[in-house]
Amino acid sequence: MKKSPNLIFHILFLLLLISPSVFSWKKDEFRNCNQTPFCKRARSRKPGSCNLIATEVSISDDGDLIAKLIPKTQENNESQDAPVEVDSKPLLLTVSVYQDGILRLKIDEEQSLNPPKKRFEVPDVILDEFLSKKLYLQRLSEEKIDNDLGFSSVVYLDGDYEGVLRHDPFEVFVRERGNGKRVLSINSNGLFDFEQLREKKEGDDWEERFRSHTDTRPYGPQSISFDVSFFGADIVSGIPEHATSLALKPTSGPGVDGFSEPYRLFNLDVFEYIDESPFGLYGSIPFMISHGKARGSSGFFWLNAAEMQIDVFGTGWNAGQDKIMMPVDEKRIDTLWMSEAGVVDAFFFVGPGPKDVIRQYTSVTGRPAMPQLFSTAYHQCRWNYRDEEDVFDVDSKFDEHDIPYDVLWLDIDHTDGRRYFTWDKVLFPNPEEMQNKLAAKGRHMVTIVDPHIKRDDNYYIHKEASDNGYYIKDASNRDFDGWCWSGSSSYTDMVNPHIRSWWADKFSYGNYVGSTPSLYVWNDMNEPSVFNGPELTMPRDALHFGGIEHRELHNVYGYYFHMATSNGLVKRGNGKDRPFVLSRAFFPGTQRYGAVWTGDNTAEWEHLRVSVPMLLTLGLTGISFSGADVGGFFGNPEPDLLVRWYQLGAYYPFFRAHAHQDTKRREPWLFGERNTELIREAIHTRYMFLPYFYTLFREANMTGTPVIRPLWMEFPAEEETFSNDEAFMVGNSLLVQGVYTQRAKHVSVYLPGEQSWYDLRSGAAYKGGKRHKFEALEDSVPAFQRAGTIIPRKDRFRRSSTQMGTDPYTLVIALNSSKEAEGELYIDDGKSFEFENGAYIHRHFKFSNGKLTSSNAAPSGAGGNRFSTDCTVERIILLGLSPAPKSALIEPANQKVGVQLGPLTIRHGNSPSFLTIRRPNVRIEDDWTIKIL
Ligand code: NOJ
Repeated sequence: MKKSPNLIFHILFLLLLISPSVFSWKKDEFRNCNQTPFCKRARSRKPGSCNLIATEVSISDDGDLIAKLIPKTQENNESQDAPVEVDSKPLLLTVSVYQDGILRLKIDEEQSLNPPKKRFEVPDVILDEFLSKKLYLQRLSEEKIDNDLGFSSVVYLDGDYEGVLRHDPFEVFVRERGNGKRVLSINSNGLFDFEQLREKKEGDDWEERFRSHTDTRPYGPQSISFDVSFFGADIVSGIPEHATSLALKPTSGPGVDGFSEPYRLFNLDVFEYIDESPFGLYGSIPFMISHGKARGSSGFFWLNAAEMQIDVFGTGWNAGQDKIMMPVDEKRIDTLWMSEAGVVDAFFFVGPGPKDVIRQYTSVTGRPAMPQLFSTAYHQCRWNYRDEEDVFDVDSKFDEHDIPYDVLWLDIDHTDGRRYFTWDKVLFPNPEEMQNKLAAKGRHMVTIVDPHIKRDDNYYIHKEASDNGYYIKDASNRDFDGWCWSGSSSYTDMVNPHIRSWWADKFSYGNYVGSTPSLYVWNDMNEPSVFNGPELTMPRDALHFGGIEHRELHNVYGYYFHMATSNGLVKRGNGKDRPFVLSRAFFPGTQRYGAVWTGDNTAEWEHLRVSVPMLLTLGLTGISFSGADVGGFFGNPEPDLLVRWYQLGAYYPFFRAHAHQDTKRREPWLFGERNTELIREAIHTRYMFLPYFYTLFREANMTGTPVIRPLWMEFPAEEETFSNDEAFMVGNSLLVQGVYTQRAKHVSVYLPGEQSWYDLRSGAAYKGGKRHKFEALEDSVPAFQRAGTIIPRKDRFRRSSTQMGTDPYTLVIALNSSKEAEGELYIDDGKSFEFENGAYIHRHFKFSNGKLTSSNAAPSGAGGNRFSTDCTVERIILLGLSPAPKSALIEPANQKVGVQLGPLTIRHGNSPSFLTIRRPNVRIEDDWTIKIL
C-alpha cells in the first residue's frame, strides 16, 4: 500500500515549486558544523590528543606494511582532551606502495575482533589497473627520528621518496630520500581519532535531530578524523564542490581571514547558492592538491563517501602547543579531515609537479573519458523548450543569425508528467522526427533523466522497480518515498550492480521510445535531491543493497547513477559510440563517465567570476569536462553580463547556456543586433578553437592534465600566479582573462613567464612576467597566445561542428625569442571508440631554423586501425617573424608558395595584417616541412 501523503505539506510544497523565486539560499535549511555532532567533536579536539601508537609492525604476506594501532595506557596519556571513552580495541593499519611513488594508507577495525558491522569501503572507484601496479614490499628498515621514544619503519616508494610509519607517537609521512624533507604527513598534529563501532548500551541516545527530522543512527558514533600536513606549500586547492576561490582560504586559526565553517563535502541540492562560501554543493571529491614555490605540488586523497568536513588551518593555529611532531620551522599548511563514517583509505601523491600529482591521482580514479566531438561545441538549453514548434523555431533562428550550435536540450517538462523516458504526447508528438530533423544539420538533442521515479503504478519504470524491489528502503525497510519534481517518488538503488544494469537497458532504442542515435542524456538531481528530506536530501538512515546505510555512501550515489546512465548509452549502440551524459552530482571517478556542470548559479557578475575557480578546481581533481550555466540559471542577466559570460564561457571545457523557467527568454538574438553580433563572435571563437580543444581533451584522456588550468600549473615557480583565479590557461598555449564588472573600462592581466604573449585580436606582443593594463574591448575578453606555441584552428563557420569535418585547418605559429614554436593536433572520427584501437591522427608541429615541420606524434605501434582524412592546411599565420620573408618552400613536394600579409582571422577583415602562408594545401595527416625563404 502507498503511504498516504500529508496533504497540507504537499500543497505547500507545490506552491513552493510553482514560485521557485522563494528558494533563495536558506542557510537554516542546512546543518553547520556545530549542528553536526561528529564535526563539532572533531573540531574541539586539541593537537596531540591522539594517544595511539603503532605496534606489531611487520610485512604481510601480501607485501604490505601492517601494524596495530593501540592506545597508550591511560597513565601515559597526558592529554586532558582524550575522548571520555577510550576504545582499547586495536585498529589495523596497512601501508601499500604502488608505482609512480604512490603510498596508500588504510586504517580499519580488526575484523577478527567481530565489530558490530563491517564498515563501508567504496567499491567501483579505484581502477583494477592501478591495483595491478602494487609493489610488494620485501623488508623493512627501521630508524630513530629526532628524539623519538621508539623506532620508525621506512619503506621505499620510488627512487626519490620514502614512506615512514612512526611508531610512537603514531604518524605516517612521505619524505624525500636523501635529505629527509617531508612532503606530506598524517597525524603530525596528533588529531587522529577513530570512533569504533560498539554495541548500544542502556541510556545511549544515538538519535540525532535536525529541524523536523530524526536520524535514528542505529549504529551510533562512527566518525573518523585526522590532520594532514602539506610541506613546502604556499596554497592548497581542490576538494570541490564549493563556490569559492581556487586557493582555499583558511577556515580555522587565530584571526583567520577566511571562513569560520569547514569546507563541507556533502552532495546537496542548494537553490540559489551564494558565490563565496565553504558550503558543500552538488558533488564531492575528497582530494586536495598543494602547491608551493619551494617544492612544487603534492596531493592527498581520502576515498570515503560519507559526509566530510575539512578545515584548512591558518598560520599560528596551534601556537603554544608542544605536541607537534614535525620540524616547526618548515613551511607547511595543516588541514583537518573529518568524516561521519567509513574507513581510512588514503592516498599520498608526491608530485613533484602539479601535472604529476594529477597524473598520479587519475591513475587511481581513472582518466577523463574522451568526449564525442559534438559535445565539446556549443549547447543551447533552457528550462523549458516548450514544444516541437519552439524547438524548430530556436533551431532555425540559429541558422538565420549565422550562429553555430550543436545540441538542443529538453528539460523536465518534455516528459509525460515528469515520468522520465516518456514524452508529453501533446507537446512532443513526433520526437523521432524532431531529432532526425536536427540531426540532418549535424545537430543533437539531450533529454533529462532524473533519479526520482514517480510512484505511479501505470508508469512502467515504477512498476518494474517496485515489483523487483529495486528501490532504496527507508529505516523501516519500506520503499523510501520522497518528494521531488514528479511528486511522490522513489529512488532506484544504483549501488546494486544488477539494478544499474537494469537501468542501463532502459536506454536501448526499443525501451526508450522516441529516442534516436542523436539523443543523449542529462542526469540532474542525483545528489539525490529530496525536497522533503533532511537538508533536501535522503535521510542518512535509509538503507541500500547489502544493508549499507545511506550515510555511509551518500556522496557516491550520484556517481553510480551517472555510471549506469553512461553505460546505458554505450550499450544501446552495441558499444560502438562514446556516451555523453551530463551529471550534477559527482565523486572521484566521475571523469570516466561524462561531464558535470556547477548547477544553479545566478545571473550576477560574482557568479561569472566564481565560475572560473570552480571549474579550475574540478579540473585539478580529475573532472576536466565541466562548465557553468552561461548567463546564470536564476535571474535575468543584463546584456553586458550575458555577452561577457558568452565570451568567457566559450573557453569553458563544457559550453552550455541554460536558464530557469521563470527567466525571460534569452536566446542569443534577443538583445539587439550589436549584442547578437558579439555573442555570435564568442560562439564562433569556440568553433574556431575546436581542433585545439579536442586535442586538449585527448591530452586529458591520456594524462589527466585538465583542459583548463590554473596559471601555476604552467608556471609553477611564479608566486604571482598562485592566487590568480580570474585568468586561466586553456592548454599550455592560451591565456584567458574574464571581464567581471559591468561596463568595464580596463582590465588588468598578469602575463606569466619570460616569453611574450600575442593578443588574439591584434596579434600585438606583450611581455611576460608582468601585469598589464588593457582597455576592456567590447568584442572579446582578453586572450593571448603564448610565444613558443602552435595552435591548430578551423576558421570556416558552419551550422555545427559535425559539418566542419572536412574543413581545412589554420595553424597559428607564435614565435618565441629564439624564433621557435611547437604544438600538437589530435584528430579521430569524433564519435566511436575506434581511437582506442589506434584509429587516430596525432601530429606534432615544430617551427625552428625558419622551418615548420609536421611529424607523427602517435606512439609507434599505436594499434592496428587507421583513421584517415583528406583535410589540408589552408593557412599558416606567423606571429613574431621579421623581416618578412617573400615565399616558402614546401617539401617533399618541392613547391613554392607565397607569403603575404593577411588578416589574423578570416572574419576580421579590418584587423591588422599578419604574415600568412596562404594555401600551402599540405595534407594534415602527412609528414612535410615548409621552409621560409
Ligand atoms: C535543477 C537543475 O540544476 C536545473 O539545471 C534544471 O533546469 C532544473 N533542475 C529543472 O530540471
